[in-house]
Amino acid sequence: MKLWGGRFKKSESKLMEDFNSSLGFDRRFYREDIEGSMAHVKMLSKCGILSQEEGKSILAGLKSILEDIENGKLKIEGDYEDIHSFVEINLIDRIGQVAKKLHTARSRNDQVAVDFRLYAKRKALEVVEDIEILQATIKEIGQQNNVIMPGYTHLQRAQVITFKHYIMAYYSMLSRDKKRILNAVEIMDESPLGCCALAGTTYDIDRNFTAKELGFKKPVDNFLDGVSDRDYVIEILSDFSIIMMHLSRLSEELILWSSKEFDFVQIDDEFSTGSSIMPQKKNPDAAELIRGKTGRVYGSLMALLTTMKGIPLAYNKDMQEDKEQFFNSLDTILSCLKIMNGILSTLKVNEKNTFNAVKKGFLNATEAADYLVDKGMAFRDAHKVIGEIVLYCEDKNKSIEDLSLEELKNFSPLFGKDVYGFIDYENTLNRGIKKNLK
Ligand code: ARG
Repeated sequence: MKLWGGRFKKSESKLMEDFNSSLGFDRRFYREDIEGSMAHVKMLSKCGILSQEEGKSILAGLKSILEDIENGKLKIEGDYEDIHSFVEINLIDRIGQVAKKLHTARSRNDQVAVDFRLYAKRKALEVVEDIEILQATIKEIGQQNNVIMPGYTHLQRAQVITFKHYIMAYYSMLSRDKKRILNAVEIMDESPLGCCALAGTTYDIDRNFTAKELGFKKPVDNFLDGVSDRDYVIEILSDFSIIMMHLSRLSEELILWSSKEFDFVQIDDEFSTGSSIMPQKKNPDAAELIRGKTGRVYGSLMALLTTMKGIPLAYNKDMQEDKEQFFNSLDTILSCLKIMNGILSTLKVNEKNTFNAVKKGFLNATEAADYLVDKGMAFRDAHKVIGEIVLYCEDKNKSIEDLSLEELKNFSPLFGKDVYGFIDYENTLNRGIKKNLK
């Protein structure tokens, strides 16, 4: 069933029909497609292009189709070319000939563009909601676990931090992720309806009316651009890719830290799986899947950038490839945000082990150097003295704070009794991270 055919002598090959059909995936746009058509019809009646009667009848038909799809009476299936054909042909079945007037002053090119923008806006805000939920969880587990742990550079123990400070780094990343998405939504917030195929229309339509009716800030400025712009999809996919990169880094850390080698955290049974052969195994599959699925989101971004790079203005069928990439990435990001929220809200931090790792890691070496600087030594010289002390401690299997004052004085006469308080981990945190982090 098609919306075209008048100029053809032969019918389409079945192979081509299947190859061309997008109903299997653009069925997700049913709501946006009907809303877009409703706004269009209201505008056509208002501008006198359709009579009030015609407008009313088409609106009622569209409304009944929407209701029947939502209550399951009308299934989106069959040999329709796309969701636009599906809705229009069903409308003709329901209300008869007048339905054929719906597509006056419109093309599927501006129709699909308006559907996609409406859908992307709605779904982007759903992602923002999930980001906010994850942020709330991060804040909560940070507050519950304001405990000492080693901070790393080069994955080597570096300086003392708290679990709270560590996990709140992801809170900051997610704040930027949220801003990026909201910014993308703001940029895409223009209506392409009325651009028609590429050149607008000679009908005296009102693009401001449809823009407002559909909740857009304004109509787009240029017709060719309006129907062939997919920047907003690419931008959202870039934002999704950055979010996945953040979730993947966090996943990598959770995988490492839940291993017996670190044993800093315990991922709950609810978000772990077992091995079919090794009875002792508890695997961090949820985090591994998030890390793995990052690849497909990056892939979608690359795929669409590549699809778009050689397309002449305005619409070309290549652009039908935008949807599956977007849907796949959208589903991925929504499930990964929810799974990460599940992992974190049930995570246990092994405070004893993070503290032991701090003790064994010379994590107060920088503070010990700062102590000598306080007493008047140049930092570079202090760095060398403490380096020698670390070497000595490694030999004796001791921490810096385990050394007697006499031992310390052998390295520098500047050491006094107050050094032990100065390099105490809790004091270090109080002077640094805890003072600077609200
Ligand atoms: N399924 C098409 C797409 O996703 C809808 C637009 C069709 N326009 C056209 N001129 N064939 O891009």
